[in-house]
Amino acid sequence: MEFIDLASQQTRLKQKLDDNIQRVLAHGKYVMGPEVLELEKQLAGYVGARHAIGCASGTDALLLALLSYGVGSGDAIFTTPFTFIATAEVISLLGAAPIFVDIESSTFNLDPTKLKLAVQAVQSNDPSVYPLPYCRPGGRGALPPLRPRGVITVDLFGLPADYDRLNAISSENDLFVIEDAAQSFGAEYKGNKACALGHIGCTSFFPAKPLGCYGDGGMCFTADDSLNETIRSLRVHGQGHHKYDHVRIGINGRLDTLQAAILLAKFEIFPEEVELRQQVAQRYSELLAPCSGIHTPSIPAGYLSVWAQYSLLAESETHRTALQQKLKEAGIPTAIYYPKPLHLQTAFAALGYQKGDFPISEDYATRIFSVPMHPYLQAAQQESIAAILRRV
Ligand SMILES: Cc1ncc(COP(=O)(O)O)c(C=O)c1O
Repeated sequence: MEFIDLASQQTRLKQKLDDNIQRVLAHGKYVMGPEVLELEKQLAGYVGARHAIGCASGTDALLLALLSYGVGSGDAIFTTPFTFIATAEVISLLGAAPIFVDIESSTFNLDPTKLKLAVQAVQSNDPSVYPLPYCRPGGRGALPPLRPRGVITVDLFGLPADYDRLNAISSENDLFVIEDAAQSFGAEYKGNKACALGHIGCTSFFPAKPLGCYGDGGMCFTADDSLNETIRSLRVHGQGHHKYDHVRIGINGRLDTLQAAILLAKFEIFPEEVELRQQVAQRYSELLAPCSGIHTPSIPAGYLSVWAQYSLLAESETHRTALQQKLKEAGIPTAIYYPKPLHLQTAFAALGYQKGDFPISEDYATRIFSVPMHPYLQAAQQESIAAILRRV
């Protein structure tokens, strides 16, 4: 059994994919070709965003978003420690400080109540209000005054965060909101599509994502004309009026034409795949309902998850190991997203955070695991997964 079955999708789309790839080979515009512009147009329409800017990866999308706000040293950017490293890596790359904020126990997403506390802690420079970086043994010692600038929310596993509350707190405190929608392209929050829920939405087209290409790719979305212009310039070395006019320091962050052509083929069946994902998730929830020791995901009213992952919580780490082992013996792959919260990663050791700072993230890292999830998962396969989990 595959964890994510890309082969079934490819078989279904083979002709269309071949045609689209051949078209690019024929016109030869491999960089920023017409397929990139067409994809930007189609995805902006789907998301309901005024602008879409294709780029080289989800990580670059986040980096471009932060660069467009001029983020740098002394800036505090609030985010969750229960995510892939890219979310916070880009903050540190620019010399800004990631301020971690624990997640809600029910959704795995940034907790608005704790965000409020973390903003207060930075404003008052007081780690007794909420854990702050640089103020523990092993950190840099004295807490430098930081300037709250923005929030990077994450729609983990394909479920949007609580944007009504997160946007309200951000707006009260003059913070921008970058939505890390790497896992949530296609999801919805109260009638609006993921990628359009903050000031800039950033998604990833990594192959395993709900809409994935055959390599790396990403996209920024925004309603703001000025941010759009800045991101377009940053994407190509801070380009100005022509190719060798540079008005700011940027990056080479372009999306390949071939990847755009592949995405155009896949996007044709994407809405149907989102629907199939709902059916697969619904079936898991029903099949696993009798397992009292396994916690299945709950989707709040008004939200639509795109189910990038179907993640379960075991009772303990030992229980999780037993469940994964039994599935493995039956040839069923599982994965752990994420085994170590970011504040405990060596890469962020200089921030001086400690074990115990973000208890929900730390607890879930020991108990969470994901089972196979993709639009082509068969009912019989899900039944065999559930039967094993029920037995353990
Ligand atoms: C939450 C999150 N943010 C950012 C990224 C980075 O995307 P990419 O791998 O396309 O750079 C990922 C990819 O796994 C992700 O899951």
